[in-house]
Amino acid sequence: MPKKTIRDLDVRSKRVLVRVDFNVPLKDGAVMDDTRIEAALPTIEYLINGGAKVILMSHLGRPKGKPDPAFKMDPVARRLEELLGRRVRKIDSCVGPEAQEAVGEMAEGDVLLLENTRFYPGETSNDPEFARELAELGDIFVNDAFGAAHRAHASTYGVAEHLPTVAGFLMEKEISIMDKILKEPDRPLTAVVGGAKIADKMSVLLNFMNHVDNLLIGGGVANTFLQAMEHEVGKSLVEEEKVKPALDIVESSRTNGVKLFLPEDVVVAEEISPEAKTEVVAVDAVPENMMILDIGPKTAQKYSEIIRESRSAVWVGPMGVFEHDAFAGGTKAVADAVADVPYSFVGGGDSAAAAEKMGVADRITHVSTGGGASLKYLGGEELPGISVIMEK
Ligand code: 3PG
Repeated sequence: MPKKTIRDLDVRSKRVLVRVDFNVPLKDGAVMDDTRIEAALPTIEYLINGGAKVILMSHLGRPKGKPDPAFKMDPVARRLEELLGRRVRKIDSCVGPEAQEAVGEMAEGDVLLLENTRFYPGETSNDPEFARELAELGDIFVNDAFGAAHRAHASTYGVAEHLPTVAGFLMEKEISIMDKILKEPDRPLTAVVGGAKIADKMSVLLNFMNHVDNLLIGGGVANTFLQAMEHEVGKSLVEEEKVKPALDIVESSRTNGVKLFLPEDVVVAEEISPEAKTEVVAVDAVPENMMILDIGPKTAQKYSEIIRESRSAVWVGPMGVFEHDAFAGGTKAVADAVADVPYSFVGGGDSAAAAEKMGVADRITHVSTGGGASLKYLGGEELPGISVIMEK
């Protein structure tokens, strides 16, 4: 990776301010899914063992720039404490006298968790004064919050103006794996793109034209392509303004030598519900009163074969409404096939949840901790939280 990491600095006795993405789901005061906390452990443990004073900060949810009891970091601190097997001190502020005092009291190897950065209006507005106050707490800034790297906020971006900035291990892993896929993949490289909305995937689809050998389309994204190819899609969700861009992608796949595949058969129903009566129909026979809610078995079979013949795979977005078993067949087939590919990356949030639900997450080379961030990176965008990390 061209960026500096925590390995490149001496952290002993230093106050190391670490931005993590502890934006995790909570229920009844407990963490429901600690994947993101676990993913940050290698960095935190490395710093502890290296004798740093580890000051962690993160956002949680979307409070409106003021304290909100529902989004306090306390449950996260408790879970982190369990995972680390050591004390994590949690305070109720991010900046000001309490934070300064708490940092002043730290010894080497201590861990301190600041309160939710979004309790301050200066976080999302990247207020220079708030960023400066945060930076005052540390000697070094480590950005390990890949999931929030697409946000130019005070704790992901502004703070880096004042401190030497390096990547943590999670950030390094996410970037290295996506770079390998995009820049020097073992071929054939197959991309599977699905999910509800094509608008979210447009830049990824465009960028993939320069990189992938096969592009398999499913989910709601396929509907707009099918409409562009003049298929009747009944009541399916179609983004009219993206029909022409979808057609351009079909064109571009031809000129770029990318093999683009659309569903040949689909699962349809009148409504999205667990009891919905489903039918499998060919793409040119979607009834007027029905919507496409999954790729059909023939398509799932074909996609699986193409994926399994690949040496690298990148998967963003489920093939159907996989939350209901009736529409989960396509996503399950794709998940199983992606897990069989030697080098695989799953990003984009929903497909990470799908990989988890289908029980294949531990057989994927890397399931990204970033939703929007991985889509932007795969779309070829420079992310603010990565741009601030020092070059090697
Ligand atoms: C995420 O969950 O995708 C990140 O933590 C970013 O959260 P945000 O969309 O609220 O900025």
